[in-house]
Amino acid sequence: MPKIPEFISLPNHIAIIMDGNGRWARQRRRPRIFGHRAGIESIRDIVRCSAELGLEVLTLYAFSVENWSRPGGEVKLLMTLLADYLRGEKQELMDNDIVLKSIGRANDLPPKPRRLLRQVIAETAGNQGMVLNLALSYSGRDELARAMTRLLEKSRNGGFPGKKVSEADVTALLDAPGLPDPDLLIRTGGEMRVSNFLLWQIAYTELYVTDICWPEFRRRHLYRAIREYGKRERRFGKVK
Ligand code: FPP
Repeated sequence: MPKIPEFISLPNHIAIIMDGNGRWARQRRRPRIFGHRAGIESIRDIVRCSAELGLEVLTLYAFSVENWSRPGGEVKLLMTLLADYLRGEKQELMDNDIVLKSIGRANDLPPKPRRLLRQVIAETAGNQGMVLNLALSYSGRDELARAMTRLLEKSRNGGFPGKKVSEADVTALLDAPGLPDPDLLIRTGGEMRVSNFLLWQIAYTELYVTDICWPEFRRRHLYRAIREYGKRERRFGKVK
C-alpha cells in the first residue's frame, strides 16, 4: 500500500466536481465515453485513498440534472457505467468499511442502476467508515426546491408549527441531512465555477481548481489539494 503522507489539517469532508472527461478523451482523439470510462479508475483510486486517509465524507458529482440533456448515447453509457461501478465495487466498499449514500433524484435513474444503488446503500448502511456520497441526477437548486416542498408538506400536516424558517430547518430537509458541510471543494478540468453543486452546503467551503482532467486525477493530486487546503486560513466571515 502506498505510504500515506501526514497533513497539517485534513478536511472532514471533500466534495469533487469530476470534470474534463470529454476534453481528456478529445485530446486523445477518442469519443467522450472513453473519458468517462477512464474516469472510473480515478473514482476507484480517490475513494480508496480517501478512506485510507480517514476522511469522514467524500462527495462526488457523478451526474447532474442538466446532464440528462446530453446525447442519448452518452447518457445511456453513463448509466451503464454507474450500474457496473455499483455492482463491481460493492465488495471493495464493504472491505473498506465504506457507507454509500446518494443525493439527488435517485428515482430518475433507470431501473437497473436505481435498484443497484438501493441495494448497495442498504448493504453498506451498517459500515462504520467513510461515507461515499454520490450526487446522482443532482442539482443544488433542485435539492433546495425539494427541501422547500418538504417544508410545505410538513407545515400542511402540522409537523412544522414555527412561523420562521431557520438555517437548521433547511439543513434538516436536504437530501443527506446528517452530513457535515464540505471543507474542501475540488474541481478538475480547470473551469472556475460551481455548476449548481451543493449550493447551500458550500457557503464556507474552500475551493480548489486544478487543470488536471478527471481521468488523470490520482491520489498525488488529491494530496496536493489537501496540502493547499492546509495553508488556507478559514475565518468563516469573522476576523482572526
Ligand atoms: C464531466 O466531464 C463528467 C461527467 C458529466 C460525469 C462524471 C462521471 C464519471 C467520472 C463516471 C461515471 C460515474 C460513476 C459514479 C460510475 P465532461 O464530460 O463534462 O467533460 P468536458 O467538460 O471535458 O466535456
